Order: sequence, then structure tokens, then C-alpha cells
Amino acid sequence: MRQVIRNVKILGTGSFVPETIYTNKYLETIIPTNDEWVQSNLGIKERHIASPDETTSDLAAKAGWDAIADSGLSVDDIDLIIVATATPDRKAPSTAAIVQHKIGAYNAAAFDIAAVCSGFLFAMSIGTQYIASGVYNNVLIIGADTFSRIVDWTRRDAVFFGDGAGAAVLTSANVTEGFLAYRLYTDSSHDNLGFTVPAGGSEIPITPEVLEKGLQYFQMDGKAVFNSAVQALPRAIDQVLEDTGLSISDISLMIPHQPSIKILKKTAEIIGLPFEKVMTNMDRYANTSSGTIPILLDEVKKSGRIHKGDNILFAAVGSGWTYGASIIKWG
Ligand SMILES: CC(C)(COP(=O)(O)OP(=O)(O)OC[C@H]1O[C@@H](n2cnc3c(N)ncnc32)[C@H](O)[C@@H]1OP(=O)(O)O)[C@@H](O)C(=O)NCCC(=O)NCCS
Repeated sequence: MRQVIRNVKILGTGSFVPETIYTNKYLETIIPTNDEWVQSNLGIKERHIASPDETTSDLAAKAGWDAIADSGLSVDDIDLIIVATATPDRKAPSTAAIVQHKIGAYNAAAFDIAAVCSGFLFAMSIGTQYIASGVYNNVLIIGADTFSRIVDWTRRDAVFFGDGAGAAVLTSANVTEGFLAYRLYTDSSHDNLGFTVPAGGSEIPITPEVLEKGLQYFQMDGKAVFNSAVQALPRAIDQVLEDTGLSISDISLMIPHQPSIKILKKTAEIIGLPFEKVMTNMDRYANTSSGTIPILLDEVKKSGRIHKGDNILFAAVGSGWTYGASIIKWG
């Protein structure tokens, strides 16, 4: 096996969200919430929700296909597919294997990774290592989730999430461009699980009693998420800045995970980044978990806001807690 170190860049991006939209106003009619609170605290106006027959792999395949088309490559050029998801179609096979079939990328190895809301960032770093080392040339990274399947639609915390998928094709780059640094962290030292889906795994298999108790739905301690996020994101960002020798004023744009507008504003304040440089789209999609960063990247890139030479900062935090940051110099 060749062992070379190559720079790695993003060649193409894609995204897909389901057609059905649940506005805050609509949610007011089914759960105890209100539009004004959700907009001011979370920055969310509406979210897209998968139809009953639409799966995570359906969203992932459409986003993946879009990214491959944008890259100019053929589907046969893809060597590896990594799907980051916390809501796989099934326990087996992997969602990545199902996506491989749906897009016809039969030359590609395919596997899933689980890092919840940090999933895309973690997957992108894995894909980058494969290309940097010379093992693969073109890697398709997809972040895809259908959290609507693990939301209790009678509870007020149903407002947080939406469904969606985004994707990027990674390939080798010349020395003047590409990823400059990655930092990934996992902090499992806390006693309570601030964000968890208790049932459906080996610990609590699904039984009628478990369903009766609603343990198949996500549980979240909002304050714990907030407090962890506003420590974790700045820590990871400071570290990638130090790794690259860049200062915060060298950052052209930040494309972060989209947990809530308050978390992002607090993070921007701590790291000293003007909020105009922090990209958001949670108003239209809410938190699509591993889908947030690649959907936002696709939108920002296709709107022409990214220019050659820009230093783009990615950062994410999720259940675990998993968190991290990365900087790419756009080529
Ligand atoms: C969600 C968050 C804004 C809540 O702030 P908080 O001060 O911790 O809120 P609390 O849960 O104590 O609720 C305070 C009040 O806000 C209002 N509120 C809370 N959730 C609400 C909802 N979904 N809809 C409307 N009002 C709500 C209520 O008035 C509530 O008072 P009550 O409990 O007496 O009814 C904050 O914790 C946060 O941003 N957390 C991060 C969550 C996140 O990003 N999750 C996704 C990634 S995993």
C-alpha cells in the first residue's frame, strides 16, 4: 500500500431535504410550544420532515448524487462512501451499503459512522485520512438523519429537529489548498447522558413496555447541551487556530453545526468572530443532526459566498459529547 501525504479538498457538494414542511405555527397546534419562543431561543422557523415511506438512505442517496454531479466525477470514480447518521434505515446492513446500491457506486467500499451531530465532521476527517495516505482518491461523505422518527410528537422538544442530508466529494489537492487541520474530541466523563435515545440497542431492546414508556424517543437536557456546547466549540476552534497558526481574523466564514442560534452567538462571542461570518440556516431546516454542516456548506458554496483562498472553519458538537473543528483553505 502506498503511504503518501497528499492535501485534500472538497470537489463537490450536494444536499437534499424532504418536501413536507412543519412550521412553528403548525407545531403550536399539536404540542405545547410557541413560535415566538422557538424563533428567539433556537432561531428556527420551520423544518422539513420525511414522509412515512422516505428513509435516511433516500435522503442520503439524493444528497450524494447531487454532490457527485457537482464534482464532475462519475459514480464509478467513488472509492469510498462514509455515511454519518444516528438514524440508520436499519441495524443491518449499514445505511452506507444501502446508499451504495441506490446511487450505483459499486466500486466503492461503504460504511457508517456514529458521532450524532458531529458525525459529518468526524466522517470528513476519516475520508481525508484515506486520501492523504494515498489509499483512496475520491471519497463521498454524507451526513443524513431523519430525527423525526425518534421525536415524540406530543412533547415540546419536538421543535428542535428536522430531517435532511448533505454530502461532499473529497479528492486530492495541490499544496496550496485543502484541509489545514482537524481536531476531534470525545468527552464521556459526565455522569448523565445529556442527549440520548435509550431504547433500540443492546441495552434496552424494543418491547411493548419500552414503547409504552416512549424510550425509543430522544431525551435531552437542554441546559446540559447548551453548557457543554459553549465550552466544547471554542476549545476545538482555538486548537485548530493554534495548529494552523491562523488567527480568528483570518477566518473568512464559519460553517458550524446548527444546534441553536443562542449557542452559535455565544460561541462567536467567545472566539471573537463577527456573527456575520457565522453561516446559519436553522431558520429553515432546524437541527438536521449530521446533515447540518453539509447542507449549509452546499448552500453557501452554491450561493457564491466562498472564494478561492478563503479559510473556512467547520465546528460541531453532539451527543457523547463528541465535538471538533476543522479549517480548509478553499482552492
Ligand atoms: C433549549 C434552551 C433554549 C432552553 O433554555 P432553558 O433556559 O434551559 O429552558 P428550560 O427548559 O428551563 O425552559 C425555560 C422556559 O422556556 C420555555 N420553553 C422551553 N422549551 C420550550 C419549547 N419547546 N417551546 C416553547 N417554550 C419553551 C418555557 O417557558 C420554559 O418554562 P417552563 O419550564 O416553566 O415551562 C437551551 O437549554 C438550549 O439552547 N439548549 C441547547 C439545546 C440544543 O441545542 N439541542 C439540540 C442539539 S442536541
